[in-house]
Amino acid sequence: MPHADSAMIPPGLDKAAFWDHVHEQLSHLLAGQRHWVTNLANASSLLFNALQATPHFGTADRMVNWCGFYLHSDLFPPPRFSPTTQPHAAQPPRLLLGPFCGKPACQLINVSPERARGVCADAYLQRRTMLVTDVEAYPGHIACDGDTKSEIVCPLLLALPDGQPERALGVFDLDCLALAGFDERDKFGLERIARLVVDACDW
Ligand code: SME
Repeated sequence: MPHADSAMIPPGLDKAAFWDHVHEQLSHLLAGQRHWVTNLANASSLLFNALQATPHFGTADRMVNWCGFYLHSDLFPPPRFSPTTQPHAAQPPRLLLGPFCGKPACQLINVSPERARGVCADAYLQRRTMLVTDVEAYPGHIACDGDTKSEIVCPLLLALPDGQPERALGVFDLDCLALAGFDERDKFGLERIARLVVDACDW
């Protein structure tokens, strides 16, 4: 099957079946590849296009207008060939824009506990999914696109051996043009997708 066809959605799926289908397609798409840049690029593309192909989100007023990842800066390699003025580790903890689909977005989200703000920072620091029905009512929300009305952000959590606490790697963020665009079924589906993505990559 051509890679692009993995984002095709059969007609008549309810929301739970939609998320199951995307999970299944993504598991095939990520098989045999362990690099997070490559896998997150395909994950954001598959989900963005699948969401646009389902009637649950595919109409102009309910469209998902952004779908992508922010990753902790430690995951980005330091420059290999060009000089840098500041060592990587000397900068405050932050999430950097990773693979995504949608319009250009803010590149950097501060996650130092005393200065963090926004939905992504909260999901990252609290290690739980944020389901935001109205972004304008969310304290500290960072508006990347004035058309966005609601948002869901799920943390990417890596399980570690020997009872160590999970490591927060970043977040998976979806924006919607409708108020209350996402519900508990989407939260369940996105959290499963996030686990699949984390498990499919070397970090
Ligand atoms: N709204 C997010 C910022 C990221 S964009 O939505 C792509 C936030 O408040 O953290």
